[in-house]
Amino acid sequence: MSMTHTIIQHHCSLDAETLRRQFAHDVLKGLSQSRKSISCKYIYDERGSELFCKIMGLPEYYLTDCEKNCLEACKGSIRETIGRGRSNLIELGAGDGIKTKILIRNLLEHDHDFQYCPVDISESAVVNLSQCLNREYPGLKIRGLVTDYFQGLTWLSQQNNAKKVVLFLGSNIGNFSPREAMDFLKHLRGSINRGDYLIIGFDLKKDIETMVRAYNDAQGITEQFITNILSRINRELGGEFNLDCFRYVSNWDDLSGAIKSYLVSTCNQKIHIRDLNSSFIFNEGEVVHAESSYKFTTDQCSVMAEVAGFDVVDNYFDDRNYFVDSLWIAV
Ligand SMILES: C[S@@+](CC[C@H](N)C(=O)[O-])C[C@H]1O[C@@H](n2cnc3c(N)ncnc32)[C@H](O)[C@@H]1O
Repeated sequence: MSMTHTIIQHHCSLDAETLRRQFAHDVLKGLSQSRKSISCKYIYDERGSELFCKIMGLPEYYLTDCEKNCLEACKGSIRETIGRGRSNLIELGAGDGIKTKILIRNLLEHDHDFQYCPVDISESAVVNLSQCLNREYPGLKIRGLVTDYFQGLTWLSQQNNAKKVVLFLGSNIGNFSPREAMDFLKHLRGSINRGDYLIIGFDLKKDIETMVRAYNDAQGITEQFITNILSRINRELGGEFNLDCFRYVSNWDDLSGAIKSYLVSTCNQKIHIRDLNSSFIFNEGEVVHAESSYKFTTDQCSVMAEVAGFDVVDNYFDDRNYFVDSLWIAV
């Protein structure tokens, strides 16, 4: 077995100060719009990542168990399709990698030669996952990257030393609007070579009650998770949000086919954010869009693959057909 080998790096153009400035810029822009919004990527600091791990264990949040089920069923088939040559397994928005371990374990058991590269905007996610994998699989080569998806894709396009197998699990794709999702997939396709693979998870459309319940858990963990965006603005940008003056609402939007999550101001209030040198007015009942979670049909997934420049190799469903992990090849 080879020596332990783990490297964690920030993307060179995205150091902590640049990220903080980008955060400030995006919050200013988002809260200055007539329909206020804050990008959900900013929920994921250390606290946000910790809360998301708790969400994955909630009985209402079916997505994790479903995707585990898909990956358990298809790990052998994915391994055989990828083949034996040296490869880079690159995961965008890796989180705690709990499901990825199913694939990693299987590849290691069959002596595949690969390096695992978790890419995530949350530093704690990359560090914790790398340390955890190091303990569990001391011979695994790990190269973690703390950066956002698009910088991650730039980095990806520069790695031409081995076959690329990109993972985009957890229906992370559903956090983009349809147009953003297509831009992202085309950009991803442009960052890999013909014959490289993408394994992408989609949460499928199902009965509305099941979908809505997943974002409205009884313990209120999802509410804490979404509200972390306001706490983070307070912590990092000197914001003066009183969390008791906002409530969390999450609904199914039939027209767009997404769960939409908002923070609703419970009174008329003016909030100052020191580092933005600005104050923002929130009327009672006014909403701040915090996250969208689009749901898909398999037909939509196939169209997305084709338009982005991929062929669908296979679709792997869970027992209830709630979720699909789709294996695509770049053409
Ligand atoms: C919904 S969680 C899913 C985690 C993992 N893929 C899974 O299936 O369990 C989304 C992950 O993507 C990361 N993330 C969100 N937006 C990102 C962005 N724009 N760039 C890079 N990582 C991002 C978050 O920090 C988080 O770890």
